[in-house]
Amino acid sequence: MPPQWKLAQCTVDDAPALGRNNMAAFWEEPMYSMRSKGKTCEFVIEQATKRSPMRLLVDRHKMRHQKAVDGDGAVVGYCRWGLPDTKTTTSENKPEWPEAQVPAVSAEQYKQFEELRDSAWWGGGEPDGKEELDDRLANIKQRILAERPYMILDYLAVHPDNKGKGIATALVESGIREAERMGIPIFVFAWKSARGIYARLGFREVDRLFEDATAMGGPIQYGAYFMVYDRHIRAFKWWKRLGFLVCLGSLGS
Ligand SMILES: CC(C)(COP(=O)(O)OP(=O)(O)OC[C@H]1O[C@@H](n2cnc3c(N)ncnc32)[C@H](O)[C@@H]1OP(=O)(O)O)[C@@H](O)C(=O)NCCC(=O)NCCS
Repeated sequence: MPPQWKLAQCTVDDAPALGRNNMAAFWEEPMYSMRSKGKTCEFVIEQATKRSPMRLLVDRHKMRHQKAVDGDGAVVGYCRWGLPDTKTTTSENKPEWPEAQVPAVSAEQYKQFEELRDSAWWGGGEPDGKEELDDRLANIKQRILAERPYMILDYLAVHPDNKGKGIATALVESGIREAERMGIPIFVFAWKSARGIYARLGFREVDRLFEDATAMGGPIQYGAYFMVYDRHIRAFKWWKRLGFLVCLGSLGS
């Protein structure tokens, strides 16, 4: 049976639907709920909805967003990508992957969305030790990102009512196609929940950090897998090497 949903461009009008999809998805994750202690899922959805328009507009030149919508047009999944600074435009100076770029809004609307974002709740007080652990996770990420320009898979969320239908897989595959076309690797800071999807699609783990976070009121293991997708680049290098050897061989014969 063909999928009952399709991928589409996001606009600022999607803010409420994205707030609901994303927060409902992350609400199920113990690593996320550490941040939202004492809050309800509805409250967190409302706050995310206020932040969503700016999330879609900030760094528009390099951020790309895709939603999955069902037959009724309801948002059932969302994925956000960051292009490296070297790959935001084509050789004709047009935006790369334009169908995933959010349409711009007027300066007046932009200002209103900034104010709305600033009025939103951002997160509770972090438990002792969490900030330090987050810093160590951020340091590993920065170290890997400093090695070469990556397209970053920045956010992935599928509403719990739609789990297990291949929506996340399709969203990630869509970005992989773009990265392969542009000839760039992908980096993702992967949570346990999505690690299987990334591994199945060809991402490899380059580092990981997990620690017991029960004392912080979190899940037993808090942390992430650091994964990259670069098999198109590695394959290209092998073909180049092979071509070189064939050339050498024919010179000698
Ligand atoms: C993880 C998530 C994106 C998967 O979306 P999805 O559309 O159900 O994924 P798919 O149908 O394409 O693939 C399902 C796979 O995810 C796995 N999965 C889903 N939730 C999982 C969880 N909480 N823990 C472990 N595996 C999980 C399924 O077992 C299945 O694995 P398989 O491919 O190895 O068989 C979705 O559950 C979600 O939004 N979770 C909360 C947010 C999150 O963790 N985002 C990823 C951050 S890196």
